[in-house]
Order: sequence, then structure tokens, then C-alpha cells
Amino acid sequence: MAAVLTQTSPTARAEILIDARGLVKRYGRTVVLDGFSLQVRAGEIVGLLGPNGAGKTTAVELMEGLRRPDAGECRICGFDSLRESRAVRHRIGVALQAARLPDYATVLEVLQLYASFYENPVPAGDLLRQFGLEEKARTQWWHLSGGQRQRLALAVALIGRPSVLFLDEPTTGLDPQARHALWDVILGLREEGRAILLTTHYMDEAERLCDRVVILDHGRILAEGTPRQLAREYGPEAAVELDTGGAPADLAALARLPAVTGVREEDARVILHTANPPATVMALAQYAQERSLPLSDLRIRSATLDDVFMALTGRRLRD
Ligand SMILES: Nc1ncnc2c1ncn2[C@@H]1O[C@H](COP(=O)(O)OP(=O)(O)OP(=O)(O)O)[C@@H](O)[C@H]1O
Ligand SMILES: [Mg+2]
Repeated sequence: MAAVLTQTSPTARAEILIDARGLVKRYGRTVVLDGFSLQVRAGEIVGLLGPNGAGKTTAVELMEGLRRPDAGECRICGFDSLRESRAVRHRIGVALQAARLPDYATVLEVLQLYASFYENPVPAGDLLRQFGLEEKARTQWWHLSGGQRQRLALAVALIGRPSVLFLDEPTTGLDPQARHALWDVILGLREEGRAILLTTHYMDEAERLCDRVVILDHGRILAEGTPRQLAREYGPEAAVELDTGGAPADLAALARLPAVTGVREEDARVILHTANPPATVMALAQYAQERSLPLSDLRIRSATLDDVFMALTGRRLRD
């Protein structure tokens, strides 16, 4: 009789390449990371999300072996990040902040410098082509635009043919077009079977790129799952958004409308979390009519990761 194969996602049985267990980091009496555990498999992108100071960079640098944990350990491709740091260094790619490069170096020189650290580096010409930097090869890197610098940082991370990539805020400061272009590059790297851990402040980035996300706040993991699972589990039933037209909104009054479970203001829009969209919208319409509010651009949508973060912490991610 033929064996019955259970349906699993393509990455479900892929090798675990990042395996962090119980990482703790303290500075003095302050615990900045409190028992951080995470596994990332080949061909998977996992996002680490959290506000400023949540502990994202600390977690990443502990996993890379750049900082020493007070407890816990991390294995990269089976090697201990601290005790086998040499083996680990040859298997990870880290998107460096370009500011750590020598000012006068040209793009080509930067790539050649990093290539010299590896036995079998990706040829600089290939990386220039892959990242659309061929015309900038002889430009000093500090003359590059923000988006070009981020691409160079990613090219540098790939020189040693790493199976594991750590990308700390890879698209911060980029315009939407440059961000989307970089997203395509990162998705391509996943297709090649690499394990990718990225940190981000952007919820749309996490929703677009990540197979799973981990939400970190004050050094603790608050929730973990696919963006969709998290929205279903922790998010509101739905959110109602409206344009305030710049007029100050009475958030306290809006919070008292039927079925509303949370309210926030974001970029001249009010966002109401609701357990019952029709009830909230009807009451909102009456509220607006009584006060002659325009109620322009009213929208009902399903929960996003932003809403999840708000529901979990009562705060906005970028506060
Ligand atoms: N070397 C250090 N000495 C003392 N405190 C530190 C040190 N490094 C980090 N911290 C503290 O640890 C906390 C977490 O910092 P971390 O850089 O990991 O946050 P983050 O989530 O990466 O934030 P951001 O989004 O701003 O990059 C912060 O409160 C920070 O001040
Ligand atoms: Mg950081």
C-alpha cells in the first residue's frame, strides 16, 4: 500500500539554520532581552518586529555571536555562535551599516575588500550586475544614494555565499519605489533557500516579506506566527478608518461608540478597532451627522499587524 503523505508547507521540513534558545542579555540591572528563542529554516524569512529599544538589534547581535549572552545559546547551521565563531562567520551574511566602510573606497573596492575575507567569494562583477550598481563601480560609496547604499550593504552580505542572512532594517529611509525593489531582491534570496532574519519597523514590509513574524517589546516575545495567524488571533474583528480632514478628533468619544475595542490616530486618520463593524459604522454615521463632520474616506478593513501590535501593547509600533 502506498504511504500517505501528509501535506506540509515547502519549508516545514527544511533544515533549521538559525536556532536560538533562551537568550538573555542584561546591562547592569536592566534586562534588555529576556529569554529569546527562535528557529529559522532554510527558505524562510522571519521578521523581528518591535518599537525602538525593544531589543531587536541585541537579539540579532547575540545570534551572530557579536555579543555574549548572559544565558542561552544560538546555533547557526549547527555551529555555536560563540564557541565556533569562525565557522559561523563563514555561514552568515550581515547587512552592514554602510557608515562602517572607509569613506574613500569605491563601490568596487568595497566589494573587493570583503571578497578578500573569503576563499570562494561571489565575483564582484556578478554582484554589481545583480544589484544594478555596475555604473557606480568607480564611485566612492559615500556618494551613493540611500537606496544604492542599502543595495551595496546587501551585496556585501552576500559575498561569502552565506546560507543565513541577518538584515537589520534593510529598507529604513528608502522611498517606496526603492523599498519595493529591495523587497524583490530579498524574496529572490529566499527562493535560493537561504534562511533570512530581518528586523523592521514597517508592518507592510513584514506582511509582504515574512513567512513568520516575532513581535518583541521590552525584550520579550509577545507573539509569534504568520502575519495572518497573528491578525486572526490578536487583532480586532475589523478596523474602521476615516479621514479627519485635519480636524482634531475626540478620541475619547469615539472610543465609547458601540463595539469599539480600541482607537488611535495616525497621519490625519482615525482608526477604530471594532468587534462589530456594522454597529460601529451606524453609530459613527450618527455621531458625524450630529457634529456636522464630513466623514470622508470611510473604510472598513480587516486587521493588520499594526492593529495586532496596538491590541497587544496599547501602543503604536513607531511611537
Ligand atoms: N551596550 C549597551 N549598554 C547598555 N544598554 C544597551 C546597550 N546596547 C543596547 N542597550 C539597551 O538595550 C535596549 C535594546 O536595544 P536594541 O538596540 O536591541 O533595540 P532595538 O529594538 O534594536 O531598537 P531600534 O528599533 O531603535 O533599533 C535599549 O534600551 C538600549 O538602550
Ligand atoms: Mg536596532
